[in-house]
Amino acid sequence: MQERNKNGDKTLEEGKPSQTAFMVAVHRAHHYLTAPEPKILRDSLALPLSGAGSEAAIQAYMDAIEARFTELSDAETSQIFVRRIVDSVCMRSRVVEECLAASLSRGMQQVVVLGAGLDSTAYRCTDLIKGLDVFEVDHPATQAWKRQRLADANIEIPENVRFVSYDFENQTLAEALRAGGVEADKMTFFTWLGVHMYLTDAAVKSTFAVMGDYPKGSEMVMDFISPDYVDTGGLVENSVDYLAKVVTEMGEPIKSRYFEAELEDMLLASGFGRVEFLSARALIDRYLDGKNAAFDMPDEATSILTARV
Ligand SMILES: C[S@@+](CC[C@H](N)C(=O)[O-])C[C@H]1O[C@@H](n2cnc3c(N)ncnc32)[C@H](O)[C@@H]1O
Repeated sequence: MQERNKNGDKTLEEGKPSQTAFMVAVHRAHHYLTAPEPKILRDSLALPLSGAGSEAAIQAYMDAIEARFTELSDAETSQIFVRRIVDSVCMRSRVVEECLAASLSRGMQQVVVLGAGLDSTAYRCTDLIKGLDVFEVDHPATQAWKRQRLADANIEIPENVRFVSYDFENQTLAEALRAGGVEADKMTFFTWLGVHMYLTDAAVKSTFAVMGDYPKGSEMVMDFISPDYVDTGGLVENSVDYLAKVVTEMGEPIKSRYFEAELEDMLLASGFGRVEFLSARALIDRYLDGKNAAFDMPDEATSILTARV
């Protein structure tokens, strides 16, 4: 896994599909296939969409990730850390499903999935998105790969799902959305999962500014990486640095990290009126009956937020 770039493969910027998008799809597949009940998320399409091919291949990838974190720390730390990453990745998608469902009664009109990767919400939750226009926005190389994956896996693309090709670093989001058919005067639900960390501060701020310009009631769910990655609860020291090392080896270095207060200020300055940080403890209580030992962390720990215009 970590040899990929040393072998001279392209990076995201050079036209290679996102390896972290593959990684988190494998995380969701692994959770779906192996996690005990209650499961956080039921992403039944993660395995076919990933293209990994088999449960054994999913397990082998997870073993390789855990082995890499063990090299950087130790076996016990690695086990806890990988479990936390997987559960966090599943939690953020579950939060999207719940917030989107709740937003329908407020009159939500369209959904924009920013940095969609192999997100399967639009193909799995067809009842949820019925009646909404859904736009998947992603880097052209990753998007082309996803579309090929959808075709290979015989996953039907609902009629209300459209694709917008966009590079956060080199294009203008408002223009790309307009050109892709997103209507700027409609109440819009944005998801931005697992993306800001791979972008520069300028790209993050300009993305907030575009989303914050949407009509009142528009909403955004995102996860974030903080400089102290407080959601590790201090149990896995340097965890954000381990993660940074591993994703850099995949060709997708971490470029931005924010404390909660910074994010809140940025969002409020961009037109959002309400920002809510979701406590990891509350999500564990909600999704895991409070039972996940790997997630034993302080009440203030958070890495997912919702914001409303
Ligand atoms: C970790 S993946 C997350 C994918 C998806 N949101 C999920 O949760 O499964 C990161 C995503 O950010 C996208 N991304 C990273 N840098 C980008 C850029 N400069 N322009 C467009 N997309 C970018 C990648 O293509 C990839 O889909």
